Amino acid sequence: MSIQFSPKETYRENFSFRNSPDAIQRFPFPFNEDSYLYSVNIEPANSKDPGSIYEHWFDIDEHYLSEMAERALVLDKDPGRYLVMPHMQPAAWDALQMLMENLSRDYPQWFELDQDGQHWHWRNKALGIDQRFIFGDASTLPCEPLEFITRQVQGDFALLDQRDNDLFMDAGMVTSPADWSLAFDAGMSFKQWHTPVPMANQMGVFDRALKYLLAMQTGQPVRRLNWTLTINPRLDSSPETFHEWGSDRGTVTPDNVGQRVHLRVELQFMARLPRSNGLMFSIRTYLISMDELVTQPGWGCRLHRVLRDLPDPIADYKGMTRYRQTLVEWLSHFDPDA
Ligand code: HEM
Repeated sequence: MSIQFSPKETYRENFSFRNSPDAIQRFPFPFNEDSYLYSVNIEPANSKDPGSIYEHWFDIDEHYLSEMAERALVLDKDPGRYLVMPHMQPAAWDALQMLMENLSRDYPQWFELDQDGQHWHWRNKALGIDQRFIFGDASTLPCEPLEFITRQVQGDFALLDQRDNDLFMDAGMVTSPADWSLAFDAGMSFKQWHTPVPMANQMGVFDRALKYLLAMQTGQPVRRLNWTLTINPRLDSSPETFHEWGSDRGTVTPDNVGQRVHLRVELQFMARLPRSNGLMFSIRTYLISMDELVTQPGWGCRLHRVLRDLPDPIADYKGMTRYRQTLVEWLSHFDPDA
């Protein structure tokens, strides 16, 4: 598929982010039923549906340039969104290799990689980067390997260390989280960083998910969708900037619901890293306004039913309690049974 990059859009201040009709069509609407509960919704990350977000391991879309500019802005203000503990250096190089090899194979029009032993040559034509370096030698790159490559790939990344039958969040680049913080979670285990999530632990979701992830093999990645809501197309909804966006939740009215409220869907991808035996967890975030979403047949109706019946603890955790009523009422106009 040939993708046209949108002119620079913003995810803050005047919020000029919009989806083209193509982007709306390929948006990963996450609901297969009229209700939602947490589950271990993991599937093999096999390529499917050419042109869809499931075609490649790492999806590059029309928002690429805007999202990379947004990441640079966040890092300028807060370099602590990037973190690699010393023992994670091999995992960082693994991640760089996985990203460069996949991007250059899947999007040869923008990314090129030549490998001559440890001597590598990387070109990113979309961002105008031409870099020769020695694989494994950070002094030959302008910055550390994980930072270098994740400044060029959409989505957040956590690298997990596997030890003692558990996973630890010991590295990452997280500039567009749905209300969690890499600096806060750094060093935590799988169950520890999931502590704020209601209901799921009692349902055994995390026990089963962890067991599955610990057994993952190289070359057999998996994926799952997660979703929440965000006011305005704000990628950086992190605890660090809560003072900038927390009060937005009180600004939703029947007149502005369609423009302000966004469904935020994460395509999460998990892959074993071959040399370090770490795990890559990437979170590719897609945003869509309610006005855009209801252009698709059936989506407004289904979202109405899901949000109307969502258990309160989950709605509260996802931060929608203050405007849930207004939103459900607005969506009810798209539900013939309401
Ligand atoms: C190692 C890979 C994973 C990482 C790094 C990760 C990380 C996180 C983080 C940071 C949160 C936010 C917690 C907070 O509020 O502070 C979260 C939420 C959550 N995670 Fe994971 N997770 C991983 C794998 C999984 C898997 C495999 C499942 C499968 C069921 C899962 C299920 C959930 C659920 C249900 C939530 C709540 C999301 C919501 O309601 O918006 N996670 N995860």
